Amino acid sequence: MTTPHHGEDFLHDLRLRSAAEGGVFWLNDDLLAVFEPDTARLVSRANWNGLVMPDRLVDMIRRRHSTPVPWARVRTAWLTQLHALGTGECTAEMITRMERIIDARLGDDIDLVLLAQDVAVQSILPVALSGLTARESALITEDLHQKLLRLIDRHPGRGPRHHLRFLAVQIRAGLVVRRVLRDRASGRRGREPDLTDPIVDLLPELGMDRALDVVTAVLTAIGGPPGSAAASVLYEFVRNPQWAQQLTNELEGVDRAEFCAAPTKAAPVTHRFVKEVLRMWSPPLLLVRRARVSSDLGAIRLEKGQSYLVSPHMIHRDQRYWEQADTFDPDRFLPGARHGPADRTCYVPFGWAPKKCIGADIGTLQLMALCHLLCTRYRLTVPNADTVTMACRFAPVPQHFQGRLTRA
Ligand code: HEM
Repeated sequence: MTTPHHGEDFLHDLRLRSAAEGGVFWLNDDLLAVFEPDTARLVSRANWNGLVMPDRLVDMIRRRHSTPVPWARVRTAWLTQLHALGTGECTAEMITRMERIIDARLGDDIDLVLLAQDVAVQSILPVALSGLTARESALITEDLHQKLLRLIDRHPGRGPRHHLRFLAVQIRAGLVVRRVLRDRASGRRGREPDLTDPIVDLLPELGMDRALDVVTAVLTAIGGPPGSAAASVLYEFVRNPQWAQQLTNELEGVDRAEFCAAPTKAAPVTHRFVKEVLRMWSPPLLLVRRARVSSDLGAIRLEKGQSYLVSPHMIHRDQRYWEQADTFDPDRFLPGARHGPADRTCYVPFGWAPKKCIGADIGTLQLMALCHLLCTRYRLTVPNADTVTMACRFAPVPQHFQGRLTRA
């Protein structure tokens, strides 16, 4: 996922131009903005259909081809594993991990953006990669944390020394993943029910470097959007006390076993709330892709090698497809609501086939689980909640979002 840096002004200008130019327009000679929902769907399909993983580095050097591995094969392996994990038990374990992280910070005055990130990443990490030693886990987490700080413009420091440290952490995290893959393949380490495991079976075809890329793709994917979405849930929760109360009314009557068995059925109001958070604050805000093939997009032709920009956020805030697009209102997701999505192409928080997010279900459950905890187990206090604002980084990031969680 490529995520350029930008700010509120840039996004504002993009919205104005998109409205004036029908959603598809050149930003410069090489970059096409595709904010019209159906064209975004089509360009994504044209671009990624039949995607095969690049050759291995060693084969490139020797000027020969590696065993071709279709990307769809990797995705099927992930999705099969996620399906096997099931909902109930997986959600219950995830909630327990979330609780453990929050409990450790109870009563402290904390940065809620970083808390949301920790809660989201640490609780989902075992789904991606489990069975790590404490040291290995700390290395992977540090790598993800460093990458996040850069994405949200909170660089731990600048200059060559910090850059070297950043690289060193990245390399060490890569070594951990290689070791896990190798140890599981050789039987030195047990197999685990995580998203890394099916990649062990693909190792003979992929080779170690491509297998590492695949596992890194999942780790990168869990390092950004889930934590950003969790921070946005906290933001809307404190900014809309009447919705917080509605969620509490619903969730107080849903015990944890019932919630874990079928969250969206047991808590429909909470589900709507989370869907609306993901409409308003879809991370990442912009996705830049290089065109692998040339495509005709209505009157515009995108040539192979040029780039295009797609954005769930831009579609979700477009007045042509959403009434009162900038108003937070979960009830727009009630069946038949006048201000609901014009059609299925207008609500795309998890992107587009065939590259659509594989973690859409578990990501949604995680956000609902966070609401469950906020309403049944903890009390969240944010002084001056009205002054908290959203800044646009790689994703929306609440600013000056300090607060305190206590036991309810
Ligand atoms: C609320 C949380 C999440 C949001 C908003 C989100 C959003 C996205 C988006 C917008 C994409 C790009 C889709 C495209 O290019 O069209 C994506 C890709 C991806 N996501 Fe998520 N995601 C979330 C959670 C997760 C979780 C929990 C996992 C893993 C369990 C995950 C794994 C992935 C992977 C592996 C890809 C790349 C898919 C591919 O390249 O084929 N995501 N996600």
